[in-house]
Amino acid sequence: MDMGVYQGRRAKLAAAMRGGVAVVPTAPERTRTRDSHYPYRFDSYFYYLTGFREPDAVLVILAGENARSILFCRDRDPEREIWDGFRYGPERARAAFGVDEAHPIGDLDKLAPDFLADRGAVHTPLGADPAWDVRITGWINQVRARARTGVAAPSELKDVCATLDEMRLIKDPEEIALMRRAAKITAGAHRRAMRAARPGRVEHEIEAELLHEFRLHGAQGPAYPPIVAGGERACVLHYVENDGALKDGELLLIDAGCELHGYAADLTRTFPVNGKFSAEQREIYQLVLAAQAAAIAAVKPGNLWEAPHRAAVKVLTQGLIDLKLIKEGLEQAIETETYRKFYMHRTGHWLGLDVHDVGDYKRGGEWRALVPGMVLTVEPGCYIRGGEDVPARFRGIGVRIEDDVLVTEGGAEILTEGAPKSIPDIEALVGGAGA
Ligand code: GLY
Ligand code: MN
Ligand code: MN
Repeated sequence: MDMGVYQGRRAKLAAAMRGGVAVVPTAPERTRTRDSHYPYRFDSYFYYLTGFREPDAVLVILAGENARSILFCRDRDPEREIWDGFRYGPERARAAFGVDEAHPIGDLDKLAPDFLADRGAVHTPLGADPAWDVRITGWINQVRARARTGVAAPSELKDVCATLDEMRLIKDPEEIALMRRAAKITAGAHRRAMRAARPGRVEHEIEAELLHEFRLHGAQGPAYPPIVAGGERACVLHYVENDGALKDGELLLIDAGCELHGYAADLTRTFPVNGKFSAEQREIYQLVLAAQAAAIAAVKPGNLWEAPHRAAVKVLTQGLIDLKLIKEGLEQAIETETYRKFYMHRTGHWLGLDVHDVGDYKRGGEWRALVPGMVLTVEPGCYIRGGEDVPARFRGIGVRIEDDVLVTEGGAEILTEGAPKSIPDIEALVGGAGA
């Protein structure tokens, strides 16, 4: 992304802060085993403001007069670079990321109190990392200790995330372009998985197809642990073992999306392992598909966040009544939430740098209205676990259909439309050579 995009975001944050100082750290590296780390993932807020991907970095933004942004990052280290590879170092980082100043991260504790002096309010992520809260408080106390030199310590500590969440909720054109690409790669991965599926294969083999496609097209990896769930395992909402055998006559639910330069796709498809829906599978699948269509139709500017969920619940509940899985009238079943036995999650969430992205769903106690630039998932499902009170023919069927949807001026754009979801399109592709 062009450095001007990040400069623009920093300027917008500074304007919203109306004075004060923001201090935003990136995520720490995490040990996995002894001296081996989890793959590094930067902090989403820090990255949103900088585009900088190295660990051990902190951004400081001074707002108001003498506004400027300062990056603290790892120093160059020829010895470490032999082992771990390139690092920017402050000098190159300043030029490459368009900040006004850059310093070695080792100087942060020494310089931070100077940046906090006479600043009124400190805007920082609060409560996410207790050690960070203590560090910030320590710097404030150091400024207090200098009171007799005439400097004032910040008197307010504010959660910078509240402002950044609102900014991140409305995607800018650069983010939308990346999310389109992430969605396209992900849709291709689901097509590949459909082609590869057949009875006798194992879930992890299909997971491998997805991961192959993600990396092949330059995505950094999955945005969240993929769910590849055959048969009744589809009814376990967070199933991630992915080690079960795929059986003839069963459905396969795949919930997997890639992360591309920090941005997530989140896509679910459900299809028959043998390429042909049974009568019961077809009934449930059509119902979820109709619920999803109703929900997507409700995604448009001005509609409330809750509108897609309400639309999906209405269609699903009526369908469950028609199938005699619910034995109440529509209004009562919705009122008493009887449908939750079969549909226990909500219809979507914001999507962006985080798969469950930031942004309030309510404002002032009311569901917020959709506006262009928001990206959300639309993901109704129906999960019929075994049980005496459920007709045997439906038991063990779990279906979810999930797409990523951008709110546009005219309504909605389905970013993940490259993944087939109509019954004929799915049946033409599964286990075969179709595109
Ligand atoms: N894959 C996570 C979700 O659908 O919310
Ligand atoms: Mn989702
Ligand atoms: Mn998902």
